[in-house]
Amino acid sequence: MIITVLLGSPNKKGSTSILVDEFKRGAEESGHTVEILDVCHMIINPCIGCVKCGYEGPCVQKDDTEIVKSKLLTSDMVVFATPLYYYGMSAQLKTVIDRFCAYNSSLNSRHLKSALLSVAWNSDDWTFDALEAHYKTLVRYINFEDKGMVLGRGCGTPSMTLRSRYPKKAYELGKGL
Ligand SMILES: Cc1cc2nc3c(=O)[nH]c(=O)nc-3n(C[C@H](O)[C@H](O)[C@H](O)COP(=O)(O)O)c2cc1C
Repeated sequence: MIITVLLGSPNKKGSTSILVDEFKRGAEESGHTVEILDVCHMIINPCIGCVKCGYEGPCVQKDDTEIVKSKLLTSDMVVFATPLYYYGMSAQLKTVIDRFCAYNSSLNSRHLKSALLSVAWNSDDWTFDALEAHYKTLVRYINFEDKGMVLGRGCGTPSMTLRSRYPKKAYELGKGL
């Protein structure tokens, strides 16, 4: 499979990246091709809601969304990777997703496989309830096929994350595809 990871953490060497790198290592060992898009350092503006695209058509904004679009429409799987920010995904990742608006039907018809990788400082059992619900709803709406989630509780810093069981879980998710 061709797998595109949307890396939604602004920290290039943070906890989210640790999970992403382990996922990639596992997936590549199983023969998949993984490309990581560092969306926080790309120029991707928020959707302005004009709907000139009609939910499928050229977007009036010309920016790096074109790169994300061309990658996703030639991939078999998308991985959403984000730190938990106020119990949801990062604004940077949400911005990328809102811009799906202009290729909504194309994305829907691709029936991509998908996964979610996330990290949080909190370790309560409800830490990821809202993010998980959002991800599952998105997958359902856009006709993706969920292949799994790694939700790293108690992963507040890279050293906490490296000591946790979640990098191994991310590796196993990739390896098992
Ligand atoms: C703006 C912001 C909001 C955050 N919100 C939460 C939160 O709601 N719950 C939580 O457990 N951790 C929260 N955190 C902590 C991060 O999710 C955590 O430190 C994570 O490991 C950061 O990942 P990174 O190293 O990839 O940046 C927040 C951090 C920031 C900077």
